[in-house]
Parts: sequence; C-alpha cells; structure tokens
Amino acid sequence: MRVTMIGSGYVGLVSGACFADFGHAVTCVDTDSAKIEALNSGAIPIFEPGLDSLVAKNMREGRLSFTTELAGAVRTADAVFIAVGTPARRGDGHADLSYVYQAARDIVAELDGFTVVATKSTVPVGTGDEVERIMREARPEADFAVVSNPEFLREGAAISDFKRPDRIVIGTGDDRAKRVMEDVYRPLYLNAPPLLFTSRRTSELIKYAANAYLATKITFINEIADLCEAVGANVQEVARGIGLDNRIGSKFLHAGPGYGGSCFPKDTLALMKTAQDLAAPLRIVETVVSVNDNRKRAMARKVIAACGGAVRGKRIAVLGLAFKPNTDDMREAPSIAIVTALLDAGASVVAHDPESMAAARAVLPGIAYADDAYSCLDGADALVIVTEWDAFRALDLDRVKAGLREPVVIDLRNIYRSDDMRRRGFRYSNVGNA
Ligand code: UDX
Repeated sequence: MRVTMIGSGYVGLVSGACFADFGHAVTCVDTDSAKIEALNSGAIPIFEPGLDSLVAKNMREGRLSFTTELAGAVRTADAVFIAVGTPARRGDGHADLSYVYQAARDIVAELDGFTVVATKSTVPVGTGDEVERIMREARPEADFAVVSNPEFLREGAAISDFKRPDRIVIGTGDDRAKRVMEDVYRPLYLNAPPLLFTSRRTSELIKYAANAYLATKITFINEIADLCEAVGANVQEVARGIGLDNRIGSKFLHAGPGYGGSCFPKDTLALMKTAQDLAAPLRIVETVVSVNDNRKRAMARKVIAACGGAVRGKRIAVLGLAFKPNTDDMREAPSIAIVTALLDAGASVVAHDPESMAAARAVLPGIAYADDAYSCLDGADALVIVTEWDAFRALDLDRVKAGLREPVVIDLRNIYRSDDMRRRGFRYSNVGNA
C-alpha cells in the first residue's frame, strides 16, 4: 500500500518508519525543508531508541522517503495520515488546530481517486467533522473519507508500542475506509491486537479519555504517596497491594514528581476546556490538572526540607532532566519547575541528563551542566534524582558518598531502597516512604 504522512515530527516519523517496516511504501512530508534535508541525509531530529536504524533500513530498502512536496505524495496515496502538531493555544489551553486544518486544505487540493485521510494528531471531538467540511467545501467532487486513528505511543517505547499495540482504534462509518485501514494494519494481525471500529467522534474521545485516565491514575498514587509519608506507610507496597487487583492493574502506579511530557499536560487541559465549553465539566480531570501543577513545586519544597529548611548558597546536584527516561524531551518536565524553585530559593544547581541537556539549556539557562553523574554530584550539598534513567539506578554509592559534601539524597523516583541508603549513612528521602 502507499501511505503518506503529513508531518514528520515525533508521531509522523515513528508511524511512517513502522508502516514502512511493515512493507508499505511510505512518504513523509514536512514543510520544514531543513528537517527534510536532515532526514534525507540520515539525521534523526529526535532521540527515540531504535528509530535511527529503523529509518535507515527502510530508506535503504526503498520503502521510506522524505519530501517537502506534498502534491505527488498525496496523489498516489491510498491513505494519507495527518500527524501535525496540535499545541495548546496560547491563553486558553484549547488545542490549536490550525496545522490540522491547513493540512486538510493542502491534501484535498491534490486528491486523485478514493483516498482515506486519517487523523493521527490528537484532536478534540468534532475535528474530523470540520476537516471533512473544509475538504468537501474545497472540492465537492473529490472521493475521500476522513477517519480518526489516534496513536497511543509512549516516548522512549514508541516503536514497540506501534508494533505491539494494546489496541488500534479506527473511527469511521465508511466501509471503503474500513477496508483500507484494515489493509494498512494487516501486518499486525499476527499479533492479533484488537481492531476497534467506532464512530469518528467516539474515536477522538477515546484518545483524550485514555490519557486523562492515565494522568488521573498517576495523580491518585502521588496523593496517596503524600498520605503514606504522613501516616508512616510505604507507597510502593500500597501500589503493589492495589495493583494486584485485576480491576485496578499495576501499571501507572509509580509515585513521583508529577507527570510531564508532550501529551498528558496538553491533553488533560484541552479535554477539560472542551468539557467546560459543552457544560459537561470533568471535575476529576480539573482536579488532576491542578494537583499535578502544584506537585512540581512541592517537590522543590521537599528538597529544601531535606537540606535542613534552606538552600541559599547551597549547591544542588540534579540527575535527570527529561520528563521521563529514554527521551531528550523537556516539554513540561517536572525538572523545570523543581530547578526553577531551587534557584528562586537561592541554590545553585548543576545537572546531568544522558540525552536532554541540549534541550534543557534552552529552558534552564541559569544552571551548570555536567558530563556525567559523578562530576555532577561532586562537591554538592545534596543530590536530587528527578528522572529514573537506567544509568542512575546502580550508581557506585561509595563514590556518591565520597563526592557529596553532605550525604543528602532526595530520590523523587524511588529507585533506591531507604533501608539500604540509610544503612550506608545517607540522609535519604524519597516519595511516599516515611
Ligand atoms: C503518554 C501515553 O502513555 C501515550 O499512550 C500517549 O499516546 C502519549 O502520552 P508519554 O507522554 O510518552 O506517553 O509517556 P508516559 O510513559 O505515559 O509518561 C508520562 C508521564 O507520566 C511522565 O512524566 C512519567 O514520568 C509519568 N509517570 C508515568 C509517572 O509519574 N508514574 C507512572 O506510573 C507512569
């Protein structure tokens, strides 16, 4: 099949490379000529494990190409996927759909023969209707079906999420479109993921509801962690104790500094706004958004308390800046609010992250950056672990203790054991473990 991706950002690039790996002929289109040039010369603009070799292999084997020329790529396609950004609109938090609508106008001008136009971008309910209206108005005679096909890719695990999905959601009432989408995903049938056909609006809502639910689950365990600290209980054991109940499930119950990233913060906000506008407010989601926002700065207060109540003039080492491991993405990373609050309180901060330091320099210019974990913590008055990279899970603790000026460790991801750390003489605190 011939598949075209409009937008070569995170979703477009991962989806395009995976579709090509299934054997489809894929063209990824982007208006950013520098990005397309870089991709054509083999440079991948994002860090995602396995993506560089997947892109290289499929380019070499002639199934994956990159271009700024939308026209040819759309004319020959069986399915065109819209995978452009939907950033939060400045001022009101609604998703900015201007890139989606522009893509719809660009696509319809070039359609030739029946074509499925599938939206992968996360878009508010009703966007598919508007995309269809824009396209019909521009070319009433064109033969196409607008489908919703949300992605559920986690950064850092996007390729395996794409190739081994829990489900594939396809929102359309058009039988021809259903058959095209079945063919597009046919290579996955061996793994037999459920293919869920729904109405377009339902499919659009599934994506938001899934992310809002996961954000709620994280926020729930984070508040339980605070309660654990107050009553002398252990949040990891509570998470295991409730997670073994199949109705609850054990995933997304890791307490930490609050969720960040390119999806949860933006999508919970957009869903909340839509619901308010439609007079069907989602009070749980509203609370989740505000609890999570407050939590990030609360983590800085936790660090300050662990440092004896003040950090003015102290040097704080921060390990991990990206919003989660295996990505260089700094969007809405808890580290930003935590580091900023520590600077506001008079500390100096030195940080290390295996992949995100280039991106971090742009958002956190007022701190020092270290090349590795040990030089980061050398001479620091406290060590804060903000992101649970594997490289930080098995540090040489004797070296850590010898490097720190004070043996203070605040582990915001619970990657060490408190009894062990205390036995080694650290003044250790973590999340939800008194
Ligand atoms: C998420 C969804 O998982 C994915 O399905 C969707 O398509 C895009 O958004 P992503 O943002 O890449 O993916 O990361 P995810 O692994 O879900 O983590 C999001 C945030 O929640 C991170 O900041 C992470 O540290 C935090 N988190 C996650 C927790 O604090 N505790 C958990 O138990 C799980």
